[in-house]
Amino acid sequence: LISPLSKRDIRLSPCSLLSVSSCGVIEWAEHDVDPSSLQEVLAKHGRSLEDRDVEFIQLKWGEWIMPGFVDTHTHAPQFQNNGAGSQYELLDWLKYVTFPEEEKFADVQYAKKMYRRVVRASLDLGTTMCCWYGTLHLEGTKVLADITHELGQRAYVGKCNMDRNSSPTYQEASAEESIADTRSFISYVEALSPSDSTALVRPIITPRFAISCTSKLLTGLGELAAAHPQVPIQTHISENNAEIAYTKTLFPECSTYAEVYDHFGLLRENTILAHGVHLEKSELDLIKRRGAGLSHCPTSNFNLRSGSAHVGQWLDNGNKCGLGTDCSGGWTASMITAMQLASVCSKVVSFYTKGDDATLTGRFSKTQFAKYQLPIPTLFWIATMGGAEVCCLQDTIGSLEPGKQFDAVRVSILPETENMHLWYEESDSLESMLERFMTNGDERNVREVWVKGRKVGGRLFK
Ligand code: GUN
Ligand code: FE
Repeated sequence: LISPLSKRDIRLSPCSLLSVSSCGVIEWAEHDVDPSSLQEVLAKHGRSLEDRDVEFIQLKWGEWIMPGFVDTHTHAPQFQNNGAGSQYELLDWLKYVTFPEEEKFADVQYAKKMYRRVVRASLDLGTTMCCWYGTLHLEGTKVLADITHELGQRAYVGKCNMDRNSSPTYQEASAEESIADTRSFISYVEALSPSDSTALVRPIITPRFAISCTSKLLTGLGELAAAHPQVPIQTHISENNAEIAYTKTLFPECSTYAEVYDHFGLLRENTILAHGVHLEKSELDLIKRRGAGLSHCPTSNFNLRSGSAHVGQWLDNGNKCGLGTDCSGGWTASMITAMQLASVCSKVVSFYTKGDDATLTGRFSKTQFAKYQLPIPTLFWIATMGGAEVCCLQDTIGSLEPGKQFDAVRVSILPETENMHLWYEESDSLESMLERFMTNGDERNVREVWVKGRKVGGRLFK
């Protein structure tokens, strides 16, 4: 079993026993068990290998379970564009590539066809919790919520708000209409699952970004958010230099990008801010004071040439940080790729932050992330537990601790995965296997995926 313990430490237990209840909660866990004493450990919990009301799943060396990935930022209606349009930077990319594709989701049949593929793909990549942006369409985005619910992915689903600066055929007619639709969307999604933190699918207020929302709309959304403190909020921030400059001309009363969202009451504990590539220190401090979280999206930040986010600085500053795939700014929904590129991004940043020789060995200061590349435990943390914190679900998911929901992945690097560039040796340690899965693995290694204890995806799932 592999599970995050902290930003610097991972539980790597070669032999664990984990008990999951029929409603998908982890009841108890025993780690570093001697394989010859399985029966005794089970007996301690009133169980035996002969129990007929229990399904036993036993793993081989070369396989492990770990928490599912938490994708803190991605766009379901853009999957069709994955891998397209990478010659553009953000604002042209939105105009020429992205808005024309999203517009097609006015057609509910198209939404049904596409969203089913999208959610399936995301689950099979091991993403058990996903923060989804839909389009501005109410009906189409309800379809996205229905499908995540049906296929069993834990999700925040948001209907985009955008009443200006898009194309005439792809923006909302008025702030009033946008807010009314958001209100009905929230009621619709809240009725799908229980209202506590174990709910599978929840609505999220989703002003696309400041550029696409009038002050009137942002004011209305701030009021709506205040009336629904339990509903999270997601948006984009400080992704690209041209975007930042334009935002400042639209909101001259605010001196920074983060202040714009704060001004309208949209920065709070359950706010998820994507990108943040060019955030200033004062903005990081404001975001931290409000308790909001950051979603690092390196696949997209490289692809759209947005920049290299200084994630080590965020962590040193005490900002909450998760990882996101940001399809189709990023070209893939793979959180494995996102971890790889988060590593590369931190190495790029370290070129000019002048870390000392310890950079080469990873044996760096225990108190500082900013000058060095992110180590494996930190990359693993932001892909799982860090994401759970950003979603304010840290007591529910993100690690495999008793009391949490069983949202997990069975990973294998055994030869039957047919991932021929990822070899397995009997003598490999769990640590070395994890590192090579993180740097060299893909969906072939994601064998089974569970959310709330229900098997919902993976290579072995039919
Ligand atoms: N900013 C506003 N909309 C978008 C989007 O769809 N993707 C990305 N990466 N940034 C955005
Ligand atoms: Fe995005």
